Parts: sequence; structure tokens; C-alpha cells
Amino acid sequence: MRRPSLRQAGLVAPLGFRLGVRHRNRLWAALLAMFVPVHAVALAEEPGPGPQTWPERIGNVSAAAFWRAIDDGGLTPTRSYASFWRSLPADAGRDEPGRAGMVAALDAALAVGDLRDGPHVEMLDYEGSHVLGEPQIHSVHGFRNDAFDVWFLLTRTFSEAKAGSGPWEQWAIVQDRRVEPNVASFFHYVRGRPEISNAGSDCYRCHANGPRALDPARPDLVSGREYLAEVNDYCRSLVGVVTDFDGPRPDFGDELRVSDCTDCHATGADRGPLHRIQAHAIRAAVARGRMPPDGPLSREGSIALEAFLRGPPDAGVAP
Ligand code: HEC
Ligand code: HEC
Repeated sequence: MRRPSLRQAGLVAPLGFRLGVRHRNRLWAALLAMFVPVHAVALAEEPGPGPQTWPERIGNVSAAAFWRAIDDGGLTPTRSYASFWRSLPADAGRDEPGRAGMVAALDAALAVGDLRDGPHVEMLDYEGSHVLGEPQIHSVHGFRNDAFDVWFLLTRTFSEAKAGSGPWEQWAIVQDRRVEPNVASFFHYVRGRPEISNAGSDCYRCHANGPRALDPARPDLVSGREYLAEVNDYCRSLVGVVTDFDGPRPDFGDELRVSDCTDCHATGADRGPLHRIQAHAIRAAVARGRMPPDGPLSREGSIALEAFLRGPPDAGVAP
């Protein structure tokens, strides 16, 4: 069995593998137990609904350290492009069904040229940083043809950047647009090859509807700022993207039914329902004032949301 590293966006499943923990509630307990001694501060900063102080760890990142890390990764942009999207050869993966087509699309995207030579966005990530307990840099790249959207994410924490060891961790999302509804599949690069990810729904916890809008944790620390609106308008326009769970869709239990959210996030709504498994992403979105998009969450909504997220500990997630 591969030994996944902790240095990644989706932390939970790899820990689950390592600990051999099968049930999600036990997994969370194990996760908490691991984090409490070392990362007590990070836990205390876990955002809840309502106004939050800006997490210190992100606030304290030095701009010089950020730009140095990007420079060391060869990610400093050399020029600006008209679009965030690079084009994927028209026939890439098109004639191969299902996952074989997706892997062919990933290979074709990387064959277009070095990711660093195209348009991309670098920023400090908020949600992953909270999970990892230290600031993390995200570098995002996108390719398209008529059949697929291919997204790459390169990640590094500041401690890795300081150690300067090895390549950035590489992740990918492929949205298969040949099928309706579109399917989003998740990949992790291991020894240079894409391996299907999202075991134990570890990507689904934050990617409830495929690709995520880019929301820099520090507005002053962004490269490729000129692409943000294009990327985010696109992500907002996506409707009904379903997730590849590498098997049957697990039963995630109760749907979030808070009315401030259900116009957009519910069965049959544009973005599909949210569940307790997405608690981290939900809390982060509300704490940062991103959700609901058209105004602060009402007091009643905030109370109902927190009651739902706390929920009965064993409910909401199938083993
Ligand atoms: C803790 C939350 C979290 C988890 C878990 C997570 N991601 Fe992400 N991911 C994000 C956020 C947030 C973004 C958008 C960029 C940002 O804001 O930093 C993102 C962006 C990405 C992108 C760039 C395209 C896009 O969506 O913008 C890829 C590719 C990606 N993630 C892959 C994965 C894969 C594969 C997994 C599972 C192994 C995973 N992520 C798990 C939070 C998460
Ligand atoms: C008017 C429609 C609308 C409402 C209401 C709304 N959202 Fe969203 N939500 C979106 C859109 C569009 C996105 C994707 C773009 C983005 O992230 O900005 C999104 C993204 C999210 C995400 C990230 C996962 C994903 O699907 O990309 C979370 C978590 C989330 N919303 C939670 C909530 C919660 C909790 C509420 C209620 C307090 C809420 N939203 C209310 C439209 C809405």
C-alpha cells in the first residue's frame, strides 16, 4: 500500500489509511487526538459561523516568504495571458470512455508544455491551511476542450517551502463534460502518474460540486490576480456537477436544510445538497462571509446551521 504524505489538500483519507480507521466518526476522533497536542492553536481557530478574527497564522505570513516560495517553485509568472484557460488538444481523451478518457486528457494537458509556462494563479489557501494547521500555497492551472475541463493544483506548505525538498504535491480534477450530469473525478500524482483519489470522500468534503472558486486567504498575496474573476465566474456557473466516488455514492445522511442555503444547495438545486461531512468547508465559507453570497447569514440561520453541523455524532455519515 502506498504511504500517502500528509502534505496535501485532502488530509483525512490518508490519515485514515495510516490508522486503519474505517468509520468516519472514529476517524475524526483520531484526527482530533492527533492534532490537539501539536496544533491546539489551529483547532482553537477553527472558524464557526459569525464574524471571525483573521487567523493569525495566515495574517503573519511574510510577503517575502510567499514570493520566495513561488519563485523557488519556478512559478513566478513571466507574462500575462488573455485567458486563464489553456487549450487541450481537441481529441484528447475524447474517444476513450470513462476514466481512461480522463487520464488521457490529463496526460494530454501535461504534454502541452510545462505547467509553469502558462497562465496560473498562486495564493495562500484558507481551508487547507486550517486543516493542516499551517499556511499552504495553492497554484492552480486549467485546460479545456469540448469534452473535458482539466484542473491542476500544486501545493506546498511553508515548512516544505523552507526545507526546499522535492517537487510540489500535484493534484488534479477532471470534469467529464461528455456525460450529463458532468462528473468530477479527483486525482493525486504519485511518482508522476495520476492515481484516482477521493477515497473515503476526502475530496468531496470540500469539493461538494467539483472545482472550487479561488478565494485567496490574503488579498495582497496573489499571483495571476487577473484570472480570478474568469475562474470564479466559471465555477459559479457550474450546475449539477456530480462527484466520482470510485464506487457507489456513500450515504451521507441528513441534508443541510437551512433555508438561507437551500435555494442553491439542495437535491434538485443547482449545486446539490450539503451534508455534515462538509462541516469544515461550510464553516469556512460562512465565517469568511462568502456564503450565503447575497448577505450575512441571519441569526436564526446561523443557529440552525450550527445545530445541524453539531448534529448527533453518529448520524449523517455512513461507515
Ligand atoms: C480542506 C478543504 C479541501 C480538501 C479536503 C480538498 N480541497 Fe481541493 N481545493 C480546496 C479549495 C478551497 C480550493 C480552491 C483554491 C483555494 O481557495 O485555495 C481547491 C482547489 C483544488 C484544485 C484546483 C481547481 C479548483 O477546484 O479550483 C484541485 C485540482 C484540487 N483542489 C484537488 C483536490 C483533490 C484531488 C482533493 C482530494 C484529495 C482535494 N482537492 C481536497 C479545498 C480542499
Ligand atoms: C444564491 C445561491 C447560493 C446560496 C443561497 C448559498 N450558496 Fe453556497 N455556493 C453557491 C455557489 C454559486 C458556489 C460556488 C462558487 C463559490 O464558491 O463562490 C457555492 C459554494 C459553496 C461552498 C463550497 C462548495 C461548493 O459547492 O463549491 C460551500 C461549502 C457553500 N457554498 C455553503 C453554503 C452555505 C452553508 C450556505 C447557506 C448559509 C450557502 N452556501 C448559500 C451559491 C449559493
